[in-house]
Amino acid sequence: MKNKSLVSISDLSKDEILRLLSQAERFEKNPNQKILDGKVVATLFFEPSTRTRLSFETAVNRLGGRVIGFSDAKTSSQSKGETLKDTIMMVSNYADLIVMRHYLEGAARYASEVAPVPVINAGDGANQHPSQTMLDLYSIYKTQGTLEGLTITMVGDLKYGRTVHSLLEAMQYWKPKFNFIACKELQMPEQYKRFCDDHGIEYHESTDFSQEVINETDILYMTRVQQERFTDLMEYERVKSLYNLHNSMLDNSKPNLRVLHPLPRITEISQDVDDNPKAYFFQQAKNGLYARQAIICRSLGIEC
Ligand code: CP
Repeated sequence: MKNKSLVSISDLSKDEILRLLSQAERFEKNPNQKILDGKVVATLFFEPSTRTRLSFETAVNRLGGRVIGFSDAKTSSQSKGETLKDTIMMVSNYADLIVMRHYLEGAARYASEVAPVPVINAGDGANQHPSQTMLDLYSIYKTQGTLEGLTITMVGDLKYGRTVHSLLEAMQYWKPKFNFIACKELQMPEQYKRFCDDHGIEYHESTDFSQEVINETDILYMTRVQQERFTDLMEYERVKSLYNLHNSMLDNSKPNLRVLHPLPRITEISQDVDDNPKAYFFQQAKNGLYARQAIICRSLGIEC
């Protein structure tokens, strides 16, 4: 069962990613099916969430399964000192699958190693967010008609933003070109730039969010500065709103450009972008339902 966990996007081969995207497409056409009858999924959120938890839970509910869990670890026995291992062992007694978000990098991998049931990583610290990546890939494919040869510009917190780390790794199969736009404190970590080098992926780094870069972009992936990862709040204040996308900045962008953001947004996308047909972040979050239905079925070994 353990190999049905999804901890890192690298746990999936190219073929598995493509299969999940096809299944997501099928779920979008028919999201209400009773194929999880009798299955119980636990959602354990040690960090706040709106989209990830609710879309996972909606995915289970629409497929006829049941959900248990907590959205605030303070209401669990962790607050009495119970270890993560013991929590995972207990929940495995009750559920067929665990979806877990945790503030510590590596917590999901550890949980997957001790749990007798599969574990889906719903975000571990600044490390990985593979189910977000599946919905990002689905959104990119739906809007571009291909995953191949796209120019993807990632803007904002590239140091702590786990969604950009997972997406970068997933795109290795489709010859992307990346632009990394971040201030010097929040630049893409060396390990991911090395990953690009090792896989022959072209990338350019800049602190300047220029019109020239926007105008050559297919996917403009904006991110929030992750306040919760900063130990120095003065530093957060200094960097929290350096990059802001306004509607007029899209005036000369490519017709196929779409603006993505894992959300929540703070100030990095102005609300005047929302009505631009190139704004895709709300549909992107909706796509999470279908992508997560596919991921849940994979982990439970259910044909769909
Ligand atoms: N994109 C994302 O992970 O959103 P939530 O934090 O609301 O789950």
